Amino acid sequence: MAAADPAAAAVRGAAALGTELPVVQAGMGGIAGPALAAAVSEAGALGTVALYKSDRELAAALVEQTAARTTRGFGVNVIPEVADRLLDQQLAAVLDRADRRLTVNSYGLPPRSFAAAVLAAGHRLLVQTGSHADARAAAELGAHAVAVQGVEAGGHHLGEQPLADLLTGHGLDVPVLASGAVATGADLLRVLTAGASGAICGTLFVAAAESAAHPDYKCDLAAAGPGDTVVTDRFAIGWPGRSHRVLRSAVTDAPAPLPSAMIAWTTVMGARRPVPRGSAAAPTAEAEGRVGEMARYAGLGCAAVTAVEPAATLLGRLREQYARALAGR
Ligand SMILES: Cc1cc2nc3c(=O)[nH]c(=O)nc-3n(C[C@H](O)[C@H](O)[C@H](O)COP(=O)(O)O)c2cc1C
Repeated sequence: MAAADPAAAAVRGAAALGTELPVVQAGMGGIAGPALAAAVSEAGALGTVALYKSDRELAAALVEQTAARTTRGFGVNVIPEVADRLLDQQLAAVLDRADRRLTVNSYGLPPRSFAAAVLAAGHRLLVQTGSHADARAAAELGAHAVAVQGVEAGGHHLGEQPLADLLTGHGLDVPVLASGAVATGADLLRVLTAGASGAICGTLFVAAAESAAHPDYKCDLAAAGPGDTVVTDRFAIGWPGRSHRVLRSAVTDAPAPLPSAMIAWTTVMGARRPVPRGSAAAPTAEAEGRVGEMARYAGLGCAAVTAVEPAATLLGRLREQYARALAGR
């Protein structure tokens, strides 16, 4: 249900997430590790560790390392369509963790059995969707909060609509989180006023000091504006079928796909692997090679990212901006 009062909406969103701020740091494969997730939770929002294609052992280690860094609740992000048969292993790694309430954050609708297992274990379920139909299906699965992602977002896209269209007319009673280009306190106020109860922010945290993104990627993001991003399907290797918003590069700007080639090396699950041009893998700190040709996911809110700063600094500023914007309405 759309809330006209942004302050009341923020309270509702924060209560649904178990946080002070109604803000979720997005799961970001390879980039949102234990250090970022814990720092964000410690700063009063919901940090999220990304499981991406991890197996049970790695997933358990990521959850364990995050838990060791914060006593607060945090999120665990899964991507059912990418994890495929690893999803059950990831679920087991989460369910093994009984010392606190986690928020399982699913990119797209998870299987019904997955949602039921998360809820039966007493964890929170947050599902990110890209349409009203999927948002309603997520609510029917019992999600504690449902995110709607607009095409402004960095990373892969779940739908094709702008955020503003998704925030109205959904008819949901469950708290709805806005996803896509929410990167300042004014952005947060805007989406709360438009009917959201909080936001998922990805791009805002890519250049955080605790993020595992490659230093060159952080640097390029800090210098970028919205016109430096583009929606493309050029990074489909490893995650086909979804367009994605990235920083522009020689790969996205070429009129035809550039020839196949190995362009970098990176470490995946402890093993050094070559990165083909067009891989969906984002450049992490461990990447070496033509990092500028890799998938540097970034949303239209990238102008708000201007430096590498600790997550606590980013969130402190967002809180101040939000308070000022609310007071100035
Ligand atoms: C670098 C990057 C990587 C992402 N990887 C994931 C991921 O692994 N899992 C996921 O649920 N969403 C992922 N997303 C998408 C976010 O969940 C979210 O939709 C998006 O970041 C919101 O838009 P914003 O980037 O403008 O804040 C990623 C986004 C970015 C920017």
